[in-house]
This record gives sequence, C-alpha cells and structure tokens, in this order.
Amino acid sequence: MSLVEEIDHGTPAVHADVTVSLTIDGQKVSVPAGTSIMRAAMDMGTKVPKLCATDSVKAFGSCRLCLVEIDGRPGTPASCTTPVGEGMVVHTQTERLKRLRKGVMELYISDHPLDCLTCGANGDCELQDMAGAVGLREVRYGYEGESHTQMAKDQSNPYFDYDPSKCIVCSRCVRACEEVQGTFALTIEGRGFDSRVSPGAHETFLTSECVSCGACVQACPTATLIEKSVVEIGQPEHSVVTTCAYCGVGCSFKAEMRGEELVRMVPWKDGKANRGHSCVKGRFAWGYATHRDRVLNPMVRAKITDPWREVSWDEAFSHIASEFRRLQNTYGKDAIGGITSSRCTNEETYLVQKLIRAGFGNNNVDTCARVCHSPTGFGLKTAFGTSAGTQDFDSVEETDVVIVIGANPTDGHPVFGSRLKKRLRAGARLIVIDPRRIDLVRSPHIKADYHLPLRPGTNVAVVTALAHVIVTEGLVNEAFVRDYCDWSEFEHWAAFVADPRHSPEEVEKLSGVPADAIRGAARLFATGGNGAIYYGLGVTEHSQGTTTVMAIANLAMATGNLGRPGVGVNPLRGQNNVQGSCDMGSFPHELPGYRHVSDEATREIFEKLWGVTLSDEPGLRIPNMLDAAVDGTFKGIYIQGEDIVQSDPDTHHVTAGLEAMECVVVHDLFLNETANYAHVFLPGSTFLEKDGTFTNAERRINRVRKVMTPRNGLADWEVTQKLALALGLAWDYRHPSEIMAEIAATTPSFAGVTYDRLDALGSVQWPCNDKAPEGTPIMHIGGFARGKGKFMITEYVATDEKTGPRFPLLLTTGRILSQYNVGAQTRRTANTVWHEEDRLEIHPHDAENRGLKDGDWVRLQSRAGETTLRALVTDRVAPGVVYTTFHHPLTQVNVITTDYSDWATNCPEYKVTAVQVAPSNGPSEWQEHYREHTALSRRITSGNEAAE
Ligand code: SF4
Ligand code: SF4
Ligand code: SF4
Ligand code: FES
Repeated sequence: MSLVEEIDHGTPAVHADVTVSLTIDGQKVSVPAGTSIMRAAMDMGTKVPKLCATDSVKAFGSCRLCLVEIDGRPGTPASCTTPVGEGMVVHTQTERLKRLRKGVMELYISDHPLDCLTCGANGDCELQDMAGAVGLREVRYGYEGESHTQMAKDQSNPYFDYDPSKCIVCSRCVRACEEVQGTFALTIEGRGFDSRVSPGAHETFLTSECVSCGACVQACPTATLIEKSVVEIGQPEHSVVTTCAYCGVGCSFKAEMRGEELVRMVPWKDGKANRGHSCVKGRFAWGYATHRDRVLNPMVRAKITDPWREVSWDEAFSHIASEFRRLQNTYGKDAIGGITSSRCTNEETYLVQKLIRAGFGNNNVDTCARVCHSPTGFGLKTAFGTSAGTQDFDSVEETDVVIVIGANPTDGHPVFGSRLKKRLRAGARLIVIDPRRIDLVRSPHIKADYHLPLRPGTNVAVVTALAHVIVTEGLVNEAFVRDYCDWSEFEHWAAFVADPRHSPEEVEKLSGVPADAIRGAARLFATGGNGAIYYGLGVTEHSQGTTTVMAIANLAMATGNLGRPGVGVNPLRGQNNVQGSCDMGSFPHELPGYRHVSDEATREIFEKLWGVTLSDEPGLRIPNMLDAAVDGTFKGIYIQGEDIVQSDPDTHHVTAGLEAMECVVVHDLFLNETANYAHVFLPGSTFLEKDGTFTNAERRINRVRKVMTPRNGLADWEVTQKLALALGLAWDYRHPSEIMAEIAATTPSFAGVTYDRLDALGSVQWPCNDKAPEGTPIMHIGGFARGKGKFMITEYVATDEKTGPRFPLLLTTGRILSQYNVGAQTRRTANTVWHEEDRLEIHPHDAENRGLKDGDWVRLQSRAGETTLRALVTDRVAPGVVYTTFHHPLTQVNVITTDYSDWATNCPEYKVTAVQVAPSNGPSEWQEHYREHTALSRRITSGNEAAE
C-alpha cells in the first residue's frame, strides 16, 4: 500500500459554458474560460513550479515562481493569476524562466533554516520540492544576512505547531482560513521583511479565534504549520480513504499511516460531502481510538454491584445467549430487545435489527434517532413520502436565501457550516430562527438579515406565522402547488394559516419575536429566489417536533422550494450514521427501507431470506422498554454503541429501568455511564478498525475502510454475528460487503448499492437503483416520492412544560464545536482544552437578579431533578432563557430534562425545561453520589483476582 496521491491543480476549478483552446509548450489544450494558465498546464500534465498557489484557494500571485512566457506579450506573467485566452501560445520552460525561478528560490532558501534532514516535513515540503524542481545548487546571497531563522515556535495548539522561522509568507494559510473555513483568524502582520503570519495581535493559536479546523496546516507548503503527530511519529507511508465517525456531515479523509499507527487524518479533496475540508473533531480528535480507557476484553458480572470479571468471547456469547433465552422462557418472547447504534456502520446496524427480529422474535428495536430526528422521519415521510433530507450539500452553492432553524451549523455540523458561510459571503441572504444568538447571526463578513429569537417551545407558532404572511400577502407559488401538491389539502391548509390567530402580531405575544421581523423574514424567503431550509434538533426535540417538521415542509411546498438545486428541506442529522441507522430498520415499527412491519409483502421478503416468521406487531420504543422494565415485563437488552444513561431524558427513569432488568448487555468502546448498569460488557471497535458504510445527512453512502486491526480482536459486525450464532441463528457473513449485498437485495432504495460501485464513484446518495444507478443527489424532481405533496395542519399546542414562580426560566441545550454528543470520544482527546466542563449560559439580567457572576457555581433545578455547574454570563441568550451543553457526565444535564416528548414519535423534549437557577457552593449531593457510584462499579477484576 502507498499514500493516496492527490493532484494539486494550483488554482480552483472553473465552471463555464465557454471553452478556450490554447497551446502550452507546443501541446494544444482546451479548458473552461476563466481557468488559469497554471491549471490548464496541470490538466495536460505539466507542473509549473509554484509556492503560493494551491487549488483550495484563489490565486494570489506573490511568490513569482510560476512565471511563464506568452507569445506576443511582454514580461513574464504569473501563470496562477493569468487566465487562459483563445489561441494563446504559452511557454513554461525557457532559459529565461529557469534563471528567474532559480533567483526566486535562492532568496527563499537564504532565509530558511537548513535543517531539512531533521525537519518534520522532510519529504513532504513544497519548498524542498521546488528547490529540486528549479535545480537550485547554490545560494549566492549566503546565509549570514538578517533572517527569521531564530524566531520562536508557537506550540500552544494541542494538535499543530507554528514555526515562523520556516514561513515563506505565501499567505496560503491566511486564504485557507478565510475562504475555506470562513473564520478569518489569521493575518499577515508587519510589512516587507518583517511580515509574518499571525493569529491575532499578541495572541497564540490557542487563545485566538482559531477553531483548529486544520485548513491552514493543510495549505501550508512548508513545515511552518505542521501536525504534532507528524513531528512525533514521522512521515506516513500509506493511506486509506475512509469516513469521519463524528457528525452527520460525513467528511471523507485519508487516514495516513505508518504501519498500524495513524499519523494524521487528511481531508480528502474528492470527498463529495466535505470537498477537502474538515473540522477539529474529524481532523484531529481521533486519539480516543487508542486511549488507555478502551476496554479490550469481554466482561461479565452477576449483579451490577459486583466487580467485573474478564471472560473469553465464547464465554460472553454463551452467557448472553443462555440469559436471553432464560428471560424469554420465563417472561415471554417480548421480554428482551435491543438498541442499534448510529455510530456503527449500516451493515452493523442492519445485523442488530436482524438479530432482534429473527433471533429474539420481536420488533423491540430502537435507536438514538428516537431522541433526535425521529420527528424528521415521520414528518417528511408524511409530507413528501421519504424520511430524509431532499438535497446534497453542494446544493447550498445555488441557494439565494437560507433559513437556519434550531440548528447551529458552525458548532454542530462545522464543515457544512463553512460551506454555508462561503455562500453567505458570496451574497445569499440569511434568516436565523433560534432562541440563542448563534455564531451565524453575526460572524466575519456575515450578518443575518433576520434573527428571530423565539421563546423555546414556540417553533410551530413562528413557522406557521411565516406561512400566514406568505398566504395572506399572495406570495404562494401557486403554479408549483398546483403541479406537485394536493390542491384541496393546500386550500384547507391555506385557510388554516390565514386565520388571524396565526398572524405575526398574535404570534409575537407568545413567541416574543417582533411581528415586523416575522413579516420581513417571510417576505424575504418567499421572494428571495432559491430558498433552502436547514434545521436541527432545535426543531425536533420538542413535544411538537413532528409538527414543526411538517410546518417546514409546508413552507417549502408553498414557496415552490423543492425539486431542484439550491432549495429544499435539509435536516442536519446529528450522529455520523443516524440516517443510516434509520434506513436500516432500527425503528420498532419499520423494516429496512421504512416499510411497516405490518406490510405482509415486505415481511415475506425477509422471512424467505432469513428463514423465520416475523412479528407483524410494532415493538417497543426505548422509553416504552424502560417503562416496561420498571413494570417488570421487560428484562433484557443488547445496547450497541449508545449511552442511554447520559443521552436519554429523565436520567432517574432510565437508570430505574436498567436497574430493573436482569441482563443488560452493553457493547461499546468504553465503560460508559450505561455500563454501570450492565451485566455483560462487550468491547467495541472504532471506525478505524472495520469495513462498512455510513450514510450522512444528504443520504450519501460513504465507505468506511479498515485501516488497523481491531484492538479487541473483532469488528462490531463480527460480535453481533457471533452472538447470533450463539442464539442458534445460521449466519455466515465473511465481509461487510456481503451484508450490503443482502441490504441491496431486500431494500429498493439500496438496490444498486455495491462496494464496487462505491469504490468506483466514491459515494452514492440513495435511492440508488436501476432508475438512478449513480444515486439521487436531489429528491422529488418533477414530483414527490408519495405522489402529490401533502400539506398538513400545524396547530400550535403549547408544551405542558410551563414556567412559573418555582421554575421561572426556560432551559434549552445544544452542542459545542470541540465536543461531540455525550463526549465519550472527544473527552478522551486533547479537545478538552477548549471545553473541560459544561457551563450554563445565562443572560446578565437574570444573573444579576440572582447575584451571580461569571464562573460562579450554580444549582440548576427542574421538577425532574437538579445538577450543578458553573455559570457563563452572556447576552447570547435572551432574558428568561438559559442554555447548556450535555457533553460531560458529571453535569448529567438530562437529570433535569423531563419526560415530555413528541406526540408522534416520543422524541424527548430536550429543548424546553422550566428551571430555576440559584447560587451554589459546588457539586450537588446527587453528583457526589454519582461520582462514588461510578468509581465503585468501574472496578475490574481479571479472572478470579480480587477487585482493586
Ligand atoms: S486551524 Fe482553521 S481556524 Fe485555525 S487558523 Fe487554521 S484555518 Fe483558521
Ligand atoms: S505559515 Fe505556511 S502557508 Fe502560511 S504564509 Fe507561512 S509558509 Fe505560507
Ligand atoms: S464536520 Fe462532522 S464529519 Fe466532518 S470532520 Fe467534522 S465531525 Fe467529522
Ligand atoms: S504560484 Fe503563482 S505567484 Fe506563486
């Protein structure tokens, strides 16, 4: 194996209808008008020497190395900044050019440390390459003059170093930070000889605005910005293209390796979701894969208060099989169930639901989407006929006006956030609907046209008020609605939203959003050109989550914003494979491909293949499993890659349910919080240790490729298969590609998916079948999957969770860029330097009323429970609203979230909890108890040795 080489074309690709033909070094070449001479030369295989140009950023023309001669033109223009012209005759290699280039290189090298042999970038340095390319043999200026070679390094960032002594001031890093990432953290400070890259005045990288996306490191042609891991381990010698296992953007990376050791993750330019970009998590936060906390051997214990006992895999499997069969014999077939993982691959998820349906004989399977995007599945399927977003990420490049509602892309979906920001800087308009002033509302060169800071829990009212304006002001796209939607349902809906009780003026009273802003935003969305809606958990995690999804779908249909690039309804899915886990039949009422378990024809397909009779009764959802456990009828569970104690609402109820079970099997990388209640622990494998596929938020099926041997000995799909064998099922998959073949054979939207096709195309978006062999980037072109689009009535019903004298504030929750979900992975990386604890954001006014200062410990209390954390006083949140993240188990924010949930899907109402905030001296009694309990149950014994 070798490193996957990517060609740097020097300047970005140009898309133009007109083609221009020219001659370069005697060869004819035709390229789109506007292409640089450098790129045209690269297209025909001629590498023009370059330093300041790279194809991820616009050309700058500062190094003067890429000079060319053009017949009939004076001088030696830079090929990176000179566009091609029809009939042009260009020379890239002449004696004059060679002389000039050597001179340029001599100047660079005379002010560069000559430590190539010991430099971390040795072998991967463009300055070194260019010295070779121009045939540099001597430096006439000597090395004695004034130089930068003694400048001090900035090693503050945990993942990369900045060594200004090696900087050639090409500004590639500055442009990458601006154009690719959109953070504008870097500048060139000083002038002339004194100019140097700087992350802000007198700041280090760590204290600056830098968000550690790595774009500058990737763009840097020298060792000036370099990954610490490369310095420590050395240059990688082979690489494998795979997919990030963090969020639903699904970025493609080259995992660059030395032997079995991962050296760095380099975003892959051909990755269709990320187009060569990354965020701090995928780029740098992979150290958890080899963290010492990983459990590598199966463990069993009779009672959850016993210490763990390491056992062989065989013993673990036969123990689980006999326990599960005992429970079913004693309490009935439905007394056990399982939870699939949205962090695992499609193939693994498919196997877990198959194990439950074919092996347990019931439909008691659920997944984390229950607590995040289940309303998306339900709402979009009802409106359009498919449970997924309608666009690809590229679509944002053709958007004119964007609504971001209940999502914080720059933190939650950072690479998409950067792509969105790029489009906004290019002129697209922006409406943000969020209780909190997220970064997008105002960031460098971006200002939202409207920010509607609604009171948590009033999404339905505000989105319906937008529709009210559109309908009553005659802004409906009637042609679209007549062509593609059910007209009589539209009329019914239009009469509903036109009712004065949905007017912005009425809605202002309950949402707190000024009526003028609602009116302005509605007009902008309806008349601003291509309109796209992006939303997240701030929409779904409500008692009316499904209603808001339907209201969003109504809005898109009424304005004709579906079925072409630049528009659409785009749920930003949370976990890397939450779309996939839903597609694979992880819900208790649906077989793979969202087909109801009561559908006989679908059941027959699986029954024939699996050789079993399947239940036609929907099984239990996670909350119902826990309820049934408390009631004594549900006794055993297999949980793959999900920490429900930390991630599900009303922690006390979750732990009571788990405590009531007789056999809890946790299959995970680490002893997570749920493992405190487990009887069997099966070690899991990371995304680096297995083959498979993930499906991202744009329905894109990306390959996950094994780059190292599983440290625990088995990939997760192998573990599930062995468990199935122990339960008497005759499974014989030798590779995940065989599981995908079964998925394709049974699931119409995956019918055309094979590993060969994925390898050939890089990725495909489902549906992928005979009609769309290369996949479907945009859904519902020329008509909806369900036939006619369905307008739904979206009556606003206030949540039962009310503020009052005891709990006067509303708590809402979210994520932060550097941490991920319950933090099991990111807390085991250096990312903790940016977020060591969850903090409670509180408005200065509310803080002052309670005598609180920034950094004070506060007690956060709801009717469900209480926790303690430190305050962050900020006007990002409105008065009356407090906000926190949920990444740290000690905070256990879900102790205080309630058991209210979405009417259609049971998705918990995480985003609205009435709370009180009061000064505190430190962690609460409950947290102290929790800390002790966790320490106790984590004791591990090896064989029969006594517990430590
Ligand atoms: S790591 Fe990213 S955010 Fe930080 S300076 Fe580099 S490009 Fe900018
Ligand atoms: S740090 Fe690297 S990319 Fe930035 S100006 Fe210096 S050499 Fe160029
Ligand atoms: S944006 Fe998401 S998928 Fe991409 S690198 Fe970051 S965490 Fe990974
Ligand atoms: S590469 Fe063209 S001027 Fe530097």
